Amino acid sequence: MPEDCLDTSNTVTCTAPVNIAVIKYWGKRNEELILPINSSLSVTLHQDQLKTTTTAATSRLFQEDRIWLNGKEEDITHPRLQSCLKEIRRLARKRRNDGDPGVESNSLSHKVHICSVNNFPTAAGLASSAAGFACLVYTLARLFGVEGELSGIARQGSGSACRSMYGGFVQWLMGQQDDGKDSVAQQVAPETHWPELRILVLVASAERKPIGSTSGMQTSVLTSSLLKHRAESVVPGRMMEMNEAVQRKDFPAFAELTMKDSNQFHATCLDTYPPIFYLSSVSHQVINLVHRYNSHYGETRVAYTFDAGPNAVIFTLQQHVPEFVQVVQHFFPPEINGGQFIKGHPVNHAALSEELKQSIGLEPMPRGISYIISTKVGPGPCVVQDPAQHLLGSDGMPKKTV
Ligand code: DP6
Repeated sequence: MPEDCLDTSNTVTCTAPVNIAVIKYWGKRNEELILPINSSLSVTLHQDQLKTTTTAATSRLFQEDRIWLNGKEEDITHPRLQSCLKEIRRLARKRRNDGDPGVESNSLSHKVHICSVNNFPTAAGLASSAAGFACLVYTLARLFGVEGELSGIARQGSGSACRSMYGGFVQWLMGQQDDGKDSVAQQVAPETHWPELRILVLVASAERKPIGSTSGMQTSVLTSSLLKHRAESVVPGRMMEMNEAVQRKDFPAFAELTMKDSNQFHATCLDTYPPIFYLSSVSHQVINLVHRYNSHYGETRVAYTFDAGPNAVIFTLQQHVPEFVQVVQHFFPPEINGGQFIKGHPVNHAALSEELKQSIGLEPMPRGISYIISTKVGPGPCVVQDPAQHLLGSDGMPKKTV
């Protein structure tokens, strides 16, 4: 091997998924360790549609730790990146000192290069930090030979990232301890558990979110008495009910809890002082549309949830997807020649009855939704075996294609 070439045995590439909370995390009791004021529960989305890919490499030739995100070099001294890196190196050192032959001692003294990309636009306002930190921690753990519980480390990168460490349906238990050791994610059901469940991400706007979740939740903790009530008196019961709804695959119960919890989260944002508005007029229109659609059929067929931005995430069952997509397309007519409206998992065509359109009876909002990403429940982080997929070249720098 030439002197200036990277030893690919010290290069690892992994992917990690996006997750969407159906019982929301909002508020921390410890900012540094990222310990939440309530437990939360999420659904992991399929990586065929939404994922982060990360390559990490060590080499004696590297002068310093470096990171590139979506083609741009970022500051590696960022405290949350440092928390994850330090923690993985600490665990690797511990394993080596305990005599684990899987941990090469030289890679621990070497610097690391990290390169990460998303397969979806960051500007779409989707939860990229969760997939990003989950992927970072999973990749570094593989690189340094660290095994075992890793969600507690991903949590220190971004709270919601701990839930992206598993596939299927995942709960993040808030924990009781001050050191955060019991604030970890656990899978409550695997991705194969509920195969009929479908997810549609309605991308409402390409604008960046107005207030980031980190600072938004800080203000909410300081000023909202509704948030305190929610964390103490509402979420514990909902966590139990949601767990049961998932186990039973009871869509109406799952859907109702999901919508109520999203609404309460946004109510706590309004109760924050000064108030935080994440929902737009398009979001409100989606909420009305879903309720009118459900009442037309006299049953809960579709549910919405919104995070810290205007995009709606829709849950429904496979058999309702074609018609509901037509409904969205009718009430949010896309730009003609505006590119593909439905991306991801293929959706069959369905006819829309005049009766349904009339019974929904909303005024269409042209171009309110840019596009829909159709997806399903998916697995947790994976290792990419093919070295051709590494994002770092043999010189340890991002490949030109990244
Ligand atoms: C509304 O995990 O992004 O998406 O821990 O400060 O990084 P930090 O916040 P983050 O918050 C996510 C909030 C949410 C709800 C959720 O995913 O549970």
